[in-house]
Amino acid sequence: MDNSTNPIGLFDSGIGGTSIWKEIHTLLPNEDTVYLADSKNAPYGQKSKDEIIDLSIKNTEYLLNQNAKIIVVACNTATTNAIKELRVKYSIPFIGIEPAIKPAAIHTKTKTIGILATKGTLSSELFYKTVSNLKGITVVEQIGHNLVKLIEEGKLESEEIKDLLKQYLDPMIKANIDHLVLGCSHYPYLIPQIKEILPEGVKIIDSGEAVARQTKLILEQNNILNTRTHKSSNLFYTNSDPVVLKSILKNDYKVENKDF
Ligand code: DGL
Repeated sequence: MDNSTNPIGLFDSGIGGTSIWKEIHTLLPNEDTVYLADSKNAPYGQKSKDEIIDLSIKNTEYLLNQNAKIIVVACNTATTNAIKELRVKYSIPFIGIEPAIKPAAIHTKTKTIGILATKGTLSSELFYKTVSNLKGITVVEQIGHNLVKLIEEGKLESEEIKDLLKQYLDPMIKANIDHLVLGCSHYPYLIPQIKEILPEGVKIIDSGEAVARQTKLILEQNNILNTRTHKSSNLFYTNSDPVVLKSILKNDYKVENKDF
């Protein structure tokens, strides 16, 4: 059965995965999409691996009911803790997002890179394996305590968030990092604030573009790329107050409240 015109499904613990959605929509503007913001259960970063797997299954089931042909796990925490289980349980392709540690490690001159991510990502086996394969590179890890919560509350410009970022980034600056990896799909929304704190030469890396390219490749390999040239339908569902999601999408898209 040709399901190439079915939508791409995406989910995140909340609004952060829209940073990935934007990259996918830019690269693949003809694809229909359904985005789930599981903000009711955010943050995932503090939850156990089993809880993250259960939530990821719940989101996947909902997206399958929307006829998703492929699912993008637009959340580092869910990818690093649950994508293996999702791939075993379901037959459709899954695209995950992981902190872009490898490109940072390849390009660093100071041999020191920083990573800001959730507790769930930094304590995952997948992350541990990636870091232990790096030779001769110092990785300064920092949990972004409370950042996801504040972003979900729409407090991007708050002094509270700026103070936390300063507290988290100062030790990395002292350690002489030249690359900062954003290991959480919520954090690209903090890039302007982060740039104000980091010295000019430090490169900020997130995985959005790479995920979009990978999505395109997997759609092509599975012959399910949507070749219709029509205006795409982009649905956004949240199980919490839609106000912040709407504003992060600049009110360009309709956001619906759903119980999932
Ligand atoms: N956007 C999620 C991620 O990429 C945030 C996780 C959370 O809810 O704590 O990790």
